[in-house]
Amino acid sequence: MTAKEIIEKYIAFFEKRGHKRIENAPLVPQNDPTTLFTSSGMQPLVPYLLGKAHPMGKKLVNVQNCFRAVDIDEVGDNRHTTFFRMLGNWSLGDPARNAPQSDAGGYFKKEHLPWIWEFVTKDLKIPISKLYITVFKGYRDIPKDAESEKIWTDILTKEGLDPKERIFFYDTQNWWSRTGEPDKMPVGEPGGPDSEIFFDFETPHTTEYGRKCHPNCQCGRFMEIVNSVFMEYQKQEDGSFKKLPQQNVDHGAGVERLLSAVENQQDIFQTSLFKPIVNAIEQILKSDYKINSRAIRIITDHLIASTFIAANGIIPSNKEQGYILRRLLRRAIRYGKQLGVDKIFTSDIASVIIKNYSDTDSDLTEKEKLIKDLFNEEEKKFAQVIQEGLRRSEKIFEIKTPIKTGLYSKLMQISDKKELFRNIYRNKIPKNILIPIGEIKLATISGEEAFNLYQSFGFPIEMIIELVQEKGLLVDIEAFEKEIEKHQKISKVGAEKKFKGGLADTSEKTIMGHTATHLLHKALRDLLGENVHQTGSNITSERIRFDFNYDKNLAPEQIKKIEEVVKEKIRENLPVHFEMLSLAKAKEIGAIGLFDEKYGQTVKVYFVGPKTKDQRPYSIEFCGGPHVAFTSEIKSFRIIKQENIGKGNRRIYAKVG
Ligand code: ALA
Repeated sequence: MTAKEIIEKYIAFFEKRGHKRIENAPLVPQNDPTTLFTSSGMQPLVPYLLGKAHPMGKKLVNVQNCFRAVDIDEVGDNRHTTFFRMLGNWSLGDPARNAPQSDAGGYFKKEHLPWIWEFVTKDLKIPISKLYITVFKGYRDIPKDAESEKIWTDILTKEGLDPKERIFFYDTQNWWSRTGEPDKMPVGEPGGPDSEIFFDFETPHTTEYGRKCHPNCQCGRFMEIVNSVFMEYQKQEDGSFKKLPQQNVDHGAGVERLLSAVENQQDIFQTSLFKPIVNAIEQILKSDYKINSRAIRIITDHLIASTFIAANGIIPSNKEQGYILRRLLRRAIRYGKQLGVDKIFTSDIASVIIKNYSDTDSDLTEKEKLIKDLFNEEEKKFAQVIQEGLRRSEKIFEIKTPIKTGLYSKLMQISDKKELFRNIYRNKIPKNILIPIGEIKLATISGEEAFNLYQSFGFPIEMIIELVQEKGLLVDIEAFEKEIEKHQKISKVGAEKKFKGGLADTSEKTIMGHTATHLLHKALRDLLGENVHQTGSNITSERIRFDFNYDKNLAPEQIKKIEEVVKEKIRENLPVHFEMLSLAKAKEIGAIGLFDEKYGQTVKVYFVGPKTKDQRPYSIEFCGGPHVAFTSEIKSFRIIKQENIGKGNRRIYAKVG
């Protein structure tokens, strides 16, 4: 059975049970400035899980391309990938509990769990003897999921399996939300207990992972293949959890892991999906997977992810998605160098990847040239400096004294290395791995040394961390970040000199410009479609500059129409106010706009137009302000120029007052 067949069987299974197929959302969310990538099938569905009616009904199914940057450092073992495809089915509310008269057809645990068992054991034919179940055992004041336990007990008993041996209970490991366990969730965020199916590869357990093996043991014997989240709670201001108005099912299963189980192949990179890519990489790089499996897995995963990200229109840069793409490509290139490759290789591998995925993702084929050119350009740029950078790093490392091996490997068990290194200098690490300050000093790459590697050779900080790790050394992350800040300040001063008078200020005209920008943004989206969104702006007392993604010139009638709408809103003298909201709430009410802070924060949202029970404000937008109090203060608005600024973006200049 191929990955494609698994996808088709799954979609057919749930379509037969009344689900409507929804499209695979873009890997780079179009209109969600709060998150860089789509990382689960539910992400685009949050408003509907919170209660908004979905146009396609209550039962949905899809296959979603996902990317998880948090897993970058985990890649290299037999199971982690950053890019994967998630099979998802959803029930948006359970009518049996909430609206008994409704025929809308949602469902909950008692329908979902038997279905997913049937799909795994009958459609995919995974032997029942290989399967184990986990259930939420309760956490703080959230009760145990006794209903799932009962359903699984019945299913397993019918199959002749002993539920006592097959069902395991965990607390936070059986809870799912976008931000993880209950304590880490921001106010307003939905989440719930989950129930997972694990596949048993029956490999021997080693006690270094604990006395007894169990599904969530890290020894590698078990692999989670299915996750059914019962998204029924929402985090409250006081930290407690309240039931959502509707109880949802959010089920996700990675195609790659299901394939591993179907093929009983413990190494994902040796399944029929990845093997052709791995084999081609062995040939292109003249390297043996058996000997260099870690490096080849990293190259495989990172170039697959880069291919999909590049196909979404991202180009390598030092910011946001572009930075992640750069990190992935440069890490793959460095591992290529480590294998002794001395030619440009990433675009050849891209061809193999594109061909391999062409049966499910034909748009990659259309963009092949673009992707390969981009890989080539980035690799050429990096290839010129990487060898010299690695030599320079060696020189720096040579004069440092590594931390003792035993202690260092204990330290490295902490997964977030950036945070770990930060805490070492703040003396905030667990007592059993405390290192004397003298030894820390001798083992440390200073902020300045790290900054030079970053600045002169384009080594992302994560790559520097990886390099020092290989030598048992440390890097002073905080000092590195201070160096970056210092550097940015210097460049900002430069910019200020260059654009004298051109920086944002709080003059009356500028404030008018800020509010006019919100009106312009909304008018553009209403006219050109919801895909259109702001990609940048700069407001001075002279003019507004507004960038947005749109690949055509605006016709004179369109310009006129936009001007008219904005002027109309000025005439309507709409009130402007702001509210501080949890990010979840802001998103729920459809706030738009550029937003570059971390998920989970309280955000400032500006409303233009009255907000009443029956009336939605004209514009709702993330913004730091300041703004006028009433739109009539803007007086007038006219567009003076439009420009094509490349990469599918357009720029408008306008004047107010
Ligand atoms: N949303 C759940 C996950 O990503 C299904 O695992």
